[in-house]
Amino acid sequence: MAKKIEIYNKNSWLNLFHLKQNPIEYPSKVALSNNPIVSIKLPHNHVYVTDNPDCMHACLVSESTKFMKSEGNQILKTLVGHGIFTMEDGPDWVQDKKRIMPFFHKESFNTILNNFLKTSIEFENYFPPLQSKCNLDLLLKKYTLQSSSQALFGMDISKDYPYFINYLDSIMFTINQQYYSFLKLPLKAPFYPKFRKKLDYINYAIQDLMHDSLHSDRTNFAYHLLNSQNQNQLNQSLYIPSIKDEVMNMLIASFKTTSIAHIMVWVLLNKHPQVLKRVIQELEQVIGKENVEVQHLYRLKYCRAVILETLRLYPPAYNLVRKIKPNINEFFNYEVEPNALIILAIRGLHRNPKYWHKPLEFIPERFLDNEKKFNHEHIFIPFGLGQRTCLGAEFAMSQILAFLAVYATKYQFNIPPNFTPVFKPTISLNISNSIPCKIQLF
Ligand code: HEM
Repeated sequence: MAKKIEIYNKNSWLNLFHLKQNPIEYPSKVALSNNPIVSIKLPHNHVYVTDNPDCMHACLVSESTKFMKSEGNQILKTLVGHGIFTMEDGPDWVQDKKRIMPFFHKESFNTILNNFLKTSIEFENYFPPLQSKCNLDLLLKKYTLQSSSQALFGMDISKDYPYFINYLDSIMFTINQQYYSFLKLPLKAPFYPKFRKKLDYINYAIQDLMHDSLHSDRTNFAYHLLNSQNQNQLNQSLYIPSIKDEVMNMLIASFKTTSIAHIMVWVLLNKHPQVLKRVIQELEQVIGKENVEVQHLYRLKYCRAVILETLRLYPPAYNLVRKIKPNINEFFNYEVEPNALIILAIRGLHRNPKYWHKPLEFIPERFLDNEKKFNHEHIFIPFGLGQRTCLGAEFAMSQILAFLAVYATKYQFNIPPNFTPVFKPTISLNISNSIPCKIQLF
């Protein structure tokens, strides 16, 4: 018989307050009980919270048909249109995934990796003069946007559209306020003139770039989509998202997640000089005095472990949210309310002492092959799980790796030792204080 879910806190307005104040940490705190799943009441709906890996697996894999994307997704859809990220499960999404996947396949991936290396090497031109102060977060965001837009469009979006990063940041923050409101409010943001102006700017920039990239002969995402559309393999009776919506979806899914991961890699390397030393040793061993090439990237096991450990402590997608379908009242052997939301507290799972030894410490070694025997399955899921898992995991890892490989042995990125990041909850994790940094030659 299905069990009853324990209620964490009956004060629904207080729960709403905490959830809105701190969507990054509150769900993890709530989930840290002995129950695999707990319930928090909100004024207008029920929310379940879990940091249990089996329960998350059930939600995203074995019982995934009982769920749909949440209201937050509706909000995103209004803004970025129908695309691979915002579509509900079903035949449209299956067809769309088939259309997109080849772009990330191994054969074309080497071209992407070469692009990343090229962007990394050329990016030195954007470094500030040595020893002068700069904001590391801005620099790395710029790199991420440049290398993503080179791979997705075959050109750099920030050249012609200098406000792109700031406006995207601000739009994501506004969306987030509504995403985590958990009240069934109509989406007001698009009608605010300032918000509209920024969104129009982003849309215009993307349309402009797509126009140029469709007329260039480089391997790029927009070109790939057009090509697959022309190949007539698509079932025309199903919904085929426009190339613009698809590109926008890809950008929303990729840019903020990768840039915060990249920023945190450098923050953590600064705080852990012994880890940086090992990174440098590996780079010297694998690359030495040669120019960095794609084949080197595959051999950087320790550098990879550093990125994975960063994603464990600071998962950019710190919560995943799903909605229980209207006809469902049982899940994971528990009674559940139809239409309730469930928050999968990934950050909580990644820091849960039940599964991780010294969970709050930065220990990349735990991800090295010979030590990668975790005591439980699915305890590390920064890229999600199941059929809706991230398509760009390797893309993101390689973007960060390329920068590390090109610069970690050449420059020091010095952040003051007392710097502490302050996070703000956009749909993915975001940092709200700038990171002062001086770049120095080794
Ligand atoms: C560190 C960087 C990244 C992280 C942590 C991350 C995380 C995730 C997660 C957790 C999901 C699942 C969302 C859900 O189940 O609701 C997801 C989906 C997705 N990601 Fe990523 N992502 C990253 C980078 C990227 C990049 C670089 C791209 C593309 C170039 C990308 C493309 C996508 C797409 C298209 C989906 C939707 C897949 C689907 O619904 O079928 N992501 N990502």
